[in-house]
Amino acid sequence: MVRVVVVGSINMDLVTLAPRFAEPGETLLGERFLTIPGGKGANQAVAAARLGADVSLVGALGSDLFGDQLHAGLAAEGIALQHVRRVDGASGTASITVAGGENQIVIVPAANWTVSPAQVEAAADSLARADAVLVQMEIPPETVEATLRLGQRLGVPVILNPAPARPLPVEWLRLARFLTPNQHELAILLGADPDEDFRALMARAPAPVVLTRGAEGAWYRDGGEPQHQPGFRVEVVDTTGAGDTFNAALAVFLKDGLGEAVRKACAAGALSVSRLGAQGGMPTRAEVEALLAGQPA
Ligand code: RIB
Repeated sequence: MVRVVVVGSINMDLVTLAPRFAEPGETLLGERFLTIPGGKGANQAVAAARLGADVSLVGALGSDLFGDQLHAGLAAEGIALQHVRRVDGASGTASITVAGGENQIVIVPAANWTVSPAQVEAAADSLARADAVLVQMEIPPETVEATLRLGQRLGVPVILNPAPARPLPVEWLRLARFLTPNQHELAILLGADPDEDFRALMARAPAPVVLTRGAEGAWYRDGGEPQHQPGFRVEVVDTTGAGDTFNAALAVFLKDGLGEAVRKACAAGALSVSRLGAQGGMPTRAEVEALLAGQPA
């Protein structure tokens, strides 16, 4: 069984379905409100578990009701939670508006901002046994750095999903086995012009890049020329969590080779947008295989 460790955030997503996005100062009548477990770290952990991996999560939850609900949900997915701390105060939240298949998100990190380098070090035994480690940027930057450094020390590949994006020191980025931004995130990460051609940005990145392009699929470069994996056609209900599903699948299938892992990650990401909610749409390994069986290999 593939072993994946995820170091990252756990949020309760407060999701409003709306006919369109409100303008600044405008009040709209929404259609539906739901609370759905989310957070990039938790989402990637859940997606990896559904794809058949043995998953351990390093993170933090508050002492509130959301913390209890999120903990129970992650445990029910079979995710090892011994490195998830409970801290006094609020759990992370994400206020999400979904309109026409697109989303707008405001996160409040709360407990996620207590995930410390020491907590990552305390999980060193789990990281040492992992086939791949996933980390994102809804936790403090020094904890992202600690994860990259520990992965390097242990010889375990760390996939850095730089979302939400902010510029990071080049020496940290070099420690990642793969960076998995979209074009906008890669430009921010490199302090570059967002309109610069994405292939040029990929060539300038200090680590191999797997770049997501939404419905267009993904481009990947591990030395040599960038390669393209086209996307899979699906009906879009909600794109929240598609990137998380993609990253999880990349980690789970990395042992199959990069091209194959990206192909499976595109399939998993596509399936995830056909249902509502970040974790609501995450496919099982069987669902990914069924989609791929109908596609040319
Ligand atoms: O990537 C999607 C996630 O981003 C949501 O679940 C939300 O919690 C935000 O963290």
